[in-house]
Amino acid sequence: MTDPLVIFTPSGKRGRVPHGTTVLEAARKLGVDLDSVCGGRGICSKCQVTPGTGQFPKHGVTVSADALSPFNAVEQRYDEKRGLKPGRRLGCQAQILSDVVLDVPPESQLHRQVVRKAAEARTVDMDPATRLYFVEVAEPDMHAPTGDLERLNAALAAQWDLPPAHAPLPVLARLQKALRAGQWQVTVALHQGHADGPAQILDIWPGFFDGPIYGMAIDLGSTTIAAHLTDLATGAVVASAGVMNPQIRFGEDLMSRVSHAMMNPDGAEEMTVAVRGALDDLARAIAQEGGIDAAAILEATLVCNPVMHHLALGIDPVELGQAPFALATSDAVNLSAADLGLGALNPAAKVYVLPLIAGHVGADAAAVALSEAPEKSDDLVLIVDVGTNAEIILGDRSRVLACSSPTGPAFEGAQISSGQRAAPGAIERVRIDPETKEPRFRVIGCDLWSDEDGFEQAVGTTGVTGICGSGIIEAVAEMRMAGLVDAGGLIGSAAQTGTSRCTPEGRTHSYVLHDGTDDGGPLVTVTQGDIRAIQLAKSALYAGARLLMDRRGVDRVDRVVLAGAFGAHISPLHAMVLGMIPDVPVDRVRSAGNAAGTGARIALCSRAARRLIEGNVRRIEKVETAVEPRFQDHFVAANALPHASDPFPELAK
Ligand code: FES
Repeated sequence: MTDPLVIFTPSGKRGRVPHGTTVLEAARKLGVDLDSVCGGRGICSKCQVTPGTGQFPKHGVTVSADALSPFNAVEQRYDEKRGLKPGRRLGCQAQILSDVVLDVPPESQLHRQVVRKAAEARTVDMDPATRLYFVEVAEPDMHAPTGDLERLNAALAAQWDLPPAHAPLPVLARLQKALRAGQWQVTVALHQGHADGPAQILDIWPGFFDGPIYGMAIDLGSTTIAAHLTDLATGAVVASAGVMNPQIRFGEDLMSRVSHAMMNPDGAEEMTVAVRGALDDLARAIAQEGGIDAAAILEATLVCNPVMHHLALGIDPVELGQAPFALATSDAVNLSAADLGLGALNPAAKVYVLPLIAGHVGADAAAVALSEAPEKSDDLVLIVDVGTNAEIILGDRSRVLACSSPTGPAFEGAQISSGQRAAPGAIERVRIDPETKEPRFRVIGCDLWSDEDGFEQAVGTTGVTGICGSGIIEAVAEMRMAGLVDAGGLIGSAAQTGTSRCTPEGRTHSYVLHDGTDDGGPLVTVTQGDIRAIQLAKSALYAGARLLMDRRGVDRVDRVVLAGAFGAHISPLHAMVLGMIPDVPVDRVRSAGNAAGTGARIALCSRAARRLIEGNVRRIEKVETAVEPRFQDHFVAANALPHASDPFPELAK
């Protein structure tokens, strides 16, 4: 009798297996992703499949109703106690008796794909470094004495084909109690950074433990720190939280923090202590937000620029303040959370720090590259992650280049006379009538425009408190389009512009956006100094992009991706009016949201993604803006709105 044919969907993997083989064994034999935490004991229900019956012309088989063995006692018990969905079977219990087509539902797929970005429905395969394993451990035997850990390791090898795992002291201290409480059955959270690398036990539970266990993807920026609490089995984001980087008190931008480290003997250490404290507080806050115990966070990934990277790791960043901008290491770093003083997490938690691209191009840029995958793009894409420091990547399938550019904090509302963080009360959208020169605006926390009925009442409690980064960009661009500002960035007088909103301020002028008389709020103006700050920031951004285009030998790109929390709020048209980004059709500019944070989350969910970016960063060509003579030329030319010499034909359309 020929062995039965088994076909798994949706993978389409097929093959013949001996009569009586369990579905789980068949899946393993044929390389099908079928999950199992309990190792086939009928406890975890991760191995569920749905058998089909009838004719399957596509697969050339007819499946009889008794292609699988009937429910056995284990499956029966599971169904009675916890209930199986109609038509579902436990793959570890059901045996294959004749030809069968088996569907593996998404929740049973070991490397299930999670949606990475709803807008694109792009996915990442779940392959986390930390997973749960249920094992049955041999009881101690006086006549063959071995330690409990050694017998646990023997069980992991026999039942899961795993290498001997190291148990750190906090785990070792609980091992014996857990084994005995579970009557020699335990579940361990095992961390294995590489599929064939060393393993470490991060936590242990008596008996069967189904999780959930969590990871934390951290984007450590110069100004803000953002984190996503992620379920390590499903990849789902359970909570997100952010805090200001407390290092701001030592300097707003990276170079002032490096200077603080250079000028003060304890400067670097002070900043290390500050940022580690903030990361620990953030872990507590995000656990609270997600309604979980922070000790259930077993892993974290960290992305940041090189200066933040060195300071977080306790490395003096002084070398990054001067050419040749030598990094202590550019490789990915594997640490324990305890190394970073992150006491809020599980005591054995691991931290994976993504690799750096170069002395000024960090792990945050690597994370953006991981998220946006320019190396897979058919057209030439320019990706800008806008922050205090802009990370810029240009590339396609043939070549990828990267640089960073010191834009300063103006895009985040800092160094702006009425600037503030993007919080309720901040003006975030601005329109100026080109005829009357009258402004209208929208404020965070209020859905109405300022000239709509009910606006004053709607913002009444909060009031208008200032202007945030996206607001100032739109304000300056609108002022340019309304003829209130010339190409050099100079604000005209009331006589020149025909509006009394342009008021003298010293030898220059300001434009009054909101006088505060109606809502008792502060006067919100755009000053000449504000426009200069935006010009400097946008020139740095544009010059960095232009430098990469020079290297690539092109004067146009096919599309632009705006990344970063702030990039998500920039209007592409206004960014182009200012000349922040090179000229492309407006519909070819896309916002990617916090791509660095997404990259950190991908690395948390996928070991393959870690290997991918570790390889890709070596292939990315680094351009150092600080020592490129042409950077200055591009910077000066980019000071004009939109540019002194580069054409912007799309704007004319
Ligand atoms: Fe756990 Fe089947 S593998 S129930």
